Order: sequence, then C-alpha cells, then structure tokens
Amino acid sequence: ATSSTTSEAETSEMKFDVIGRVGLARHGRLRLPHSVVETPVFMPVGTQGTMKGVLPEQLIDMDCRILLCNTYHLGHRPGHERVRAAGGLHKMMNWPRSILTDSGGFQMVSLSKLMTVDENGVNFESPHTGEMMALPPEKSIEIQQALGADIMMQLDHVIHVLTTGDIVEEAMHRSIRWLDRCTKAHTRTDQTLFPIVQGGLNLDLRKKCVEEMAKRAKVGIAIGGLSGGEEKSSFWRVVATCCAVLPPHLPRYVMGVGFPVDLVICSLLGADMFDCVYPTRTARFGTALVRRGGLMQLNQNRYKTDFEPIDDRCTCHTCRTYTRAYIHGVIGKETVGCHLVSVHNIQHQLDLMRDVRRAIDEEKVGEFLNSFLGEQFSGGE
Ligand code: GUN
Ligand code: ZN
Repeated sequence: ATSSTTSEAETSEMKFDVIGRVGLARHGRLRLPHSVVETPVFMPVGTQGTMKGVLPEQLIDMDCRILLCNTYHLGHRPGHERVRAAGGLHKMMNWPRSILTDSGGFQMVSLSKLMTVDENGVNFESPHTGEMMALPPEKSIEIQQALGADIMMQLDHVIHVLTTGDIVEEAMHRSIRWLDRCTKAHTRTDQTLFPIVQGGLNLDLRKKCVEEMAKRAKVGIAIGGLSGGEEKSSFWRVVATCCAVLPPHLPRYVMGVGFPVDLVICSLLGADMFDCVYPTRTARFGTALVRRGGLMQLNQNRYKTDFEPIDDRCTCHTCRTYTRAYIHGVIGKETVGCHLVSVHNIQHQLDLMRDVRRAIDEEKVGEFLNSFLGEQFSGGE
C-alpha cells in the first residue's frame, strides 16, 4: 500500500512456499521463471557473465538452481545494451536456470575510491575510462531489465557496517525512497524486485526499515549492510531481529554471506538465501572447504603424496576424479588447479544447504548442528 506502484509489475508466476519449519528455520520452495529453488539456498557469484573457472554445465551437474551476477561489471563490459542484444544474460552466458543481479551500488562502494552518494544516486569513477559516472535508481533498473535476471535488487545506500551517527538512519531512509524510484522504473513482468533492509547494527532502525520494506516487497526481501568486519554476535543479532519481524511468506536473502558457519546459523535463525564469492575466492589461494576441520590448505607439503580425494564424502567431479596430491602439484602453476578447487568448494556449499534442508524436513536440526559444529571446529586431519 504505497503511492509508488503506478507501474507495478505482475509477479504471479513467482511464488514462495514454506514447506517445512523447525523452530525459526524454514525449508522453502521459490518458483522463479527459470527454475524452482529450494531454500535455504547458497547462490554462487559470477562476474563478467561467467563463474571464475566453472562452466554452467558443471553448475547444472551440481544441481545449482540460481546464480548471482554483478550488474556493476556487466554495466561496463560488455555493456548492458550488448547483453540485451545478445538476448539477455541467460542466453549470453548459456545458463538456463535462475539469475539474481545486484544493483551495482554496493560493488561501487567496495571497488571505487572516488564513490560519492547524493539523493540522485551513487556517483563513481569508471574503472575502465576513469570518468565520473552517475548511477541513479532508475538507471540501475534499466540496466538490470536489459540483463533480464529473474530477481533484481533495488539500488540501496550502503554504508560501512561499523559507521555510527545520523548517516546510518539517513542511508536507511534514502534506501526506502530509492526503492520507490526503482519500483516506478520497473516495467518487465517476468522479473521481480527485492527491497534491501538497511540500518547498520541499530536494531530499532532495522525494525523500522523492515516495516517499510515489507509493505513494498512482492516476492522476497533482502537484509543488506552486513558482513563488513563486524563481530559475529552483532551480525547474527541483526539477522535474528530482522527475521523475527519479517513476514513469513517472503524469502529472506542475507547479502554477501558465505562462511559455512554463517550459512548454518543464519538458516537456523530463519534466513533463506545467501551469496558470497568466498568459495571461489578462497579456491584461488588453494584452500578447499571441508566438513572435517573447516579448511584444507592444499599447497602444504603434507599433501604431496596424499592420494585421497579432498573429501571422501564429497560427490563433486573433483573428488570423484582427482587426488589431493594431483591438486597440490598443479595449484599455483596451472589455472586448472583453481578450477578443480572451485568446483569442490561450490559443491561443498550446495551440499551443506541441502543437509540443512534435510535436517529441517526430518526435524533433526539439533543433531545436524551438533555434528556440523563438532566436525567444523575439530582439529582437522
Ligand atoms: N552485497 C552485500 N551487501 C550488500 C548490500 O548491503 N547491498 C547491496 N546492494 N549488495 C550487497
Ligand atoms: Zn569435492
């Protein structure tokens, strides 16, 4: 019931059903135009229209249903008009399943030194040409509509999570105004737009923002502004507070979260969707995510003659085919080493979320948490 819904898009084919619930945790099913997504879900992150070192067919093999792509990169190279001309992002990157695009503002905060924000939008220095460019909410939606992802994110005013003072509340209110501008600019009926709850670590601001954003949300809603170096306890408290006041019929997407322990804790607090570059970024340093001990540094000499797979319970192509010794030998020398670990790390995150969903279905959340924490924080191998 806002005044800003003159061009409200129909989103009837998009739907979220909670199919199981234990405590605060939910197993849900999100129907999007390009796939059905089981939640809680981890969304791997692709940039420049590709996953670093992983092909779409490999992601299909892993039963990945949805990817996140960054608008910021795509707005420049190849440029959203060229993506539109190529038939949209799905076609361009040969990915038939669902895609979520971020609005661009957050990437500018993290990548541009000369970024400024005013009521009109985000202003940033183009990394390609060096000139200053404006990104108003309307432009972010224009770009995201050219890309054609199933889920678009509103342009929001992101500030560092540890910022204090009036700016926290101002950025929150500005994000609400920008959502209304995004909604007016949104005309495609086969895409949905997620609002983003801001408000820093201030729980009262968060609750106020949830109330406003939830009024305007159609299919789902995001919790932003986290995972920027705050204490875990403050981060989890914001997620718990938002989830407690969010309407149950909307999936809740916690942005930029991807450490395994955070995926598990936030899912149990009632969050449903997550994304992070962590599994692919950490793979580039030769680090594999494993249940036993959490991390495996494959460049260590102890793996030189270790002919076991990374994880003997993992079903990924890497673990079915290659040994730790082989990966140790190629890592840092051949790009294939990074590709093999990326495949494993993405599978690890997808499998972890499948185990969370199964624990909810079987009402064995307590047992799952005990064994997950026990293994993750054991000494490893
Ligand atoms: N990615 C991680 N956090 C955020 C956020 O607060 N806003 C946006 N747009 N993207 C994010
Ligand atoms: Zn594996």
